[in-house]
Amino acid sequence: MRREQGRISIIKRRGNEEVNKLKVIAIVGARPQFIKHFPFEKSLASDTELITIHTGQHYDDYMSKVFFDQMNMSRPKYMLQIGSRGHGAQTGMMMEEIEKIVLDEKPDWMVVYGDTNSTLAGALVAAKLHVPIAHIEAGLRSFNKEMPEEVNRVLTDHISDLLLVPSDVAVQNLAKEGIRNNVHAVGDIMKDLVIYSIDNNHITARKQQGDYYYATIHRPYNTDEKERLMYILESLSQADKTVMFSIHPRTINAMSKFGLLRDNYPNIMFIDPQGYFDNLSYLYFSSGLITDSGGMQKEAYWLKKKCITIRTETEWIETLIDSANTLVFNDLSGLNDIMAMPAKWNNHLYGDGNCGALISSLLLENSTKRN
Ligand code: UD1
Ligand code: UDP
Repeated sequence: MRREQGRISIIKRRGNEEVNKLKVIAIVGARPQFIKHFPFEKSLASDTELITIHTGQHYDDYMSKVFFDQMNMSRPKYMLQIGSRGHGAQTGMMMEEIEKIVLDEKPDWMVVYGDTNSTLAGALVAAKLHVPIAHIEAGLRSFNKEMPEEVNRVLTDHISDLLLVPSDVAVQNLAKEGIRNNVHAVGDIMKDLVIYSIDNNHITARKQQGDYYYATIHRPYNTDEKERLMYILESLSQADKTVMFSIHPRTINAMSKFGLLRDNYPNIMFIDPQGYFDNLSYLYFSSGLITDSGGMQKEAYWLKKKCITIRTETEWIETLIDSANTLVFNDLSGLNDIMAMPAKWNNHLYGDGNCGALISSLLLENSTKRN
C-alpha cells in the first residue's frame, strides 16, 4: 500500500473481549451503483460495519428507491440529495458533504463503484483525507476521454489503494498506466447478482408477450442532440420485432425537449425505468438487447442474449468475441441482420459469481490493526 493502511476500529465489545470491526464507507448515487452495492453488502463479513452514503445523483423513485425496496437493502445512513447539476457543481457539492462525513466517521476503507461523478467525488475526498480507497470495477477503459466516465475511472484508479478488476484486460490496462501493485482480478460483482437472481427465482414473470427486442439508451452522445436521437428512434422503428424500450430519465427529458412524440414510433413500446429484477426479466425473455449501457452489455452476455451496442467503443471488449456483442454507431441500418447472426458465449467471462466474497476478504487482508 502506498498510504498508511486502514486502521481497524475497535467499536464492539463481547463481554470483556474487544472485537475489531472494520469500518467501511461505500458511496452510491447512480442506478448501477445501487445494483453493485447489493451483492457487496450481502458478502461483507459480519465483523464489518458498512456505512452507505447515497449522493442523490439519481433520485426519482424508479431510479433509486425501487432498488432498495425490491432488493431489501439497508437504507443509506446518509442521503446527500445533491441531485442533477453540471459536472463541476455536482461533483464539488458531493465532495463537500462526503468530506464532513468521512472526518466524522473515520472509516478504514472508502469503497467506490464504477465510473460516475459519485465515484470520483468519494475517491477524491478519501485520497485527500488519507483513507484507503477500494475501487470496484477498476481498470476499465473506453479510451474515449470525451466520456465523463473515462475521466472519472482513470482518476479514481490512480488514487486507489485496492484495484478490484473484472478481467485480465483490465489488469493490462492498469499495467500500461504504471499501476501494478494491489491489483486483484476478482471478476465482476454484477455477475454475482445475475446468478443470485436466477438461483432465487427472481427471473420468473414474462413481462411481454410475443417476440421482442429489449432496449435502453442513455449516453449523452446518443440523446443530447435531436438529430442523433431521432435517428436512433427511427432505426429502432425499422426492427423486425417490437422494441421494448426502458426509457432513462435523460432520454425522457431529451424526447420531451425535442418534441419527439412516442406515438410517432409505433414499433417501440416505451416503458418507465424498471426495478432490477423486472429489467432482468424483460432481458431474459427478449430476443436480444439494443443498448448503450455498460452494465447491460454484461447482463445480456451472461444471459446469452445477443447484444447490439450503439457506441463506437466498449470497455467490455471481451463481449465482442464470437459476435455476442456488436458495436454499431453511424450506420444503424443493419440491426436485424446483426441480431440474426449466430453467436457464442463463454460461461466464465468476468469470473464465476463470487466477486463480493473475494472483495470482502481482500478488504480484511489489506487492513492493519490500529491497536
Ligand atoms: C449517470 C452516469 C453514467 C451512468 C448513468 C447510469 C455520470 C457522469 N454519468 O449518467 O456514467 O451510466 O448515470 O444511469 O456520472 N434525471 C432525472 N431523474 C433522476 C436522475 C436523472 O430526471 O433520478 C435526469 C436529469 O435531467 C439529469 C439527467 O437525467 O440531468 C442525467 O442524469 P446524470 O446523473 O447527470 O447522468 P446520467 O445520464 O444519468
Ligand atoms: N437497469 C434497471 N432497470 C432499467 C434499466 C437498467 O434496473 O430499466 C439496470 C440494469 O439491469 C443494470 C444497470 O441498471 O444492472 C445498468 O445501469 P445503467 O444502464 O443506468 O448504467 P451503466 O451501466 O451504463 O453505467
